[in-house]
Amino acid sequence: MPGQIPKTFIDDLLTRTDIVEIIDGFVPLRKTGSNHKGLCPFHDEKTPSFTVSQEKQFYHCFGCGANGSAITFLMEYRHMDFVTAVEEMARRAGLEVPREGSAGPARDQKLTELYELQELVVQFYRKQLKQHPEAERAVNYLKQRGITGELAAKFELGYAPPGWDHLIKALGLSDAAQKRLLKAGLIIQRDQGGYYDRFRDRIMFPIRDQRGRVIGFGGRVLDDGTPKYLNSPETPIFHKGRELYGFYQARHAGKNLQRLYVVEGYMDVLALVQHEVSNVAATLGTAATADHLESIFRVTPEIVFCFDGDEAGRKAAWRALDISLPLLRDGRRVFFLFMPEGKDPDDFVREHGKVGFEDLKKYVPLTDYLLRELTRDFDPGIREHKSKLIHEATPYLRKMPQGSLKQLLQDEIAGLTSLDKSIFDQQLMETKPKPQSYPVKVSRLQRKTERTLLAQVIRLLLIKPKIALTIPDFDDLANINLPGTDFLKDLIQLIQATPDITLARILETWRGTKYEKRLSELAPIAESPYEKDEVDIHSEEFLAIEFSDAIASLREWSRKERIKKKTSKVSSLDELTEEHKTELRNLNPKARIPPEN
Ligand code: UTP
Ligand code: MN
Repeated sequence: MPGQIPKTFIDDLLTRTDIVEIIDGFVPLRKTGSNHKGLCPFHDEKTPSFTVSQEKQFYHCFGCGANGSAITFLMEYRHMDFVTAVEEMARRAGLEVPREGSAGPARDQKLTELYELQELVVQFYRKQLKQHPEAERAVNYLKQRGITGELAAKFELGYAPPGWDHLIKALGLSDAAQKRLLKAGLIIQRDQGGYYDRFRDRIMFPIRDQRGRVIGFGGRVLDDGTPKYLNSPETPIFHKGRELYGFYQARHAGKNLQRLYVVEGYMDVLALVQHEVSNVAATLGTAATADHLESIFRVTPEIVFCFDGDEAGRKAAWRALDISLPLLRDGRRVFFLFMPEGKDPDDFVREHGKVGFEDLKKYVPLTDYLLRELTRDFDPGIREHKSKLIHEATPYLRKMPQGSLKQLLQDEIAGLTSLDKSIFDQQLMETKPKPQSYPVKVSRLQRKTERTLLAQVIRLLLIKPKIALTIPDFDDLANINLPGTDFLKDLIQLIQATPDITLARILETWRGTKYEKRLSELAPIAESPYEKDEVDIHSEEFLAIEFSDAIASLREWSRKERIKKKTSKVSSLDELTEEHKTELRNLNPKARIPPEN
């Protein structure tokens, strides 16, 4: 596999291509004012709120919040990974994608070898299922579980025969080959030297990643032996917290995915696909992670969690709810399909079929599930219960992004408790008290305003980066003790170094860094308050004035902070050092500070 794509190339690519042209190829756009608009391809809508800015080379949907550069668009709309999206754009621009350095390729070469090896292993195990003398037991087992030959072929099921060295003998003929098998987790090193096969007398489930590469295996015993499943260990190419069994097959099962069912077991995936519910994937014996959910939401707006009807399944469901909350921006939906006690999706679909499984009435919306749990034994006649509900709901609400879903839930809880909506609103807005104490007591409200101010400065810069150049010297801003100051400082530096930078190029420069998330939060909002205005608020002049006002307020605030800090450290002004006094006088000429003696 080739090395990294140089950042400079991506920057170049974004400069040469036009996001409007790229998106217009998929989503018809119409020019309105300074932007282009169309029906959002990421959620259902009747009036266009999907906006593409040529100037910023940025798209943003006011309905569902989707936003990003042309690269992000290709990734989300065409379900491409980053590299493929960049290659696609390069192809359109008639450019060759260069690759970086020599350190990369060497490492990538090793990884490629691992992927290729796993492919051979898949073929090996499949062949054993067809030919090995012991394979009949495996075939019978699969039949008895209701798995057809066709399905077994589709999921490339195989068989690891009993014995310690079948795989080694077939694919580990050289020292180097054995090292690779070891690295892939397929064989295990003996203490006394030598190796043995990890998987023995098991039905083998190859696990493919989203790009279709085999990254690991699960192996099931044919009887009640333990462990029931043995999985590949974590290897350079296998990370359980990121991959889902069956996701690749689900994505290639046909048309766009309306929703994806997330189940717990390999066999659940097979049973559902056997019953023509092909949009299903399983976590790999781990809890669902935010990584999992993000990759699912990239291809479908709806997830239905369907865990086993046992204690572990219920725990997994609640955990899934918890990690879903922060990801529930408008346009995304999460449901739960609870299995009857003691049943798993495999049992359920065999009993009730596709129709029973796809009975939408049974899908419990995430917010219903949350409310149901929070209002167990809730008595609206008891004030203490209402206050408890508010108290317990608050952390969950706080996890949710702003949007209609959160608002609806919040209003409903306010209704249940007859708490004034605006009071509840205010309570939720308050940031949690920080454990560390600040040198000066600043009221929480005050801190919030300053933070908003900082966010506003950043937003203005994202709308029109050039305005950063209207203020020559920002050095003093570095001392502002607010979260986000580093971000602002780095943003200004970036703009000063590349004055004609667009929002899209800023996004791509910082893709995968600690600023990525905050950027995608602040970037779209930059658009919204101004969109409907009649004044030419996009003019550089207007934005530059707003910017310099905001900077001035920040400076003023920071100056006051420093005075407070200086004076709060000493009990009397007489204890100030001369140096301090001079600084204080400079900061605040009107202060009554004892003269130098
Ligand atoms: P289940 O026991 O629910 O699996 O475990 P299943 O797919 O329904 O298996 P059958 O129907 O009994 O054959 C759920 C998942 O947890 C992981 C596997 O990924 C399994 O599919 N697991 C379970 C293990 O990794 N090891 C185990 O020993 C058991
Ligand atoms: Mn099962």
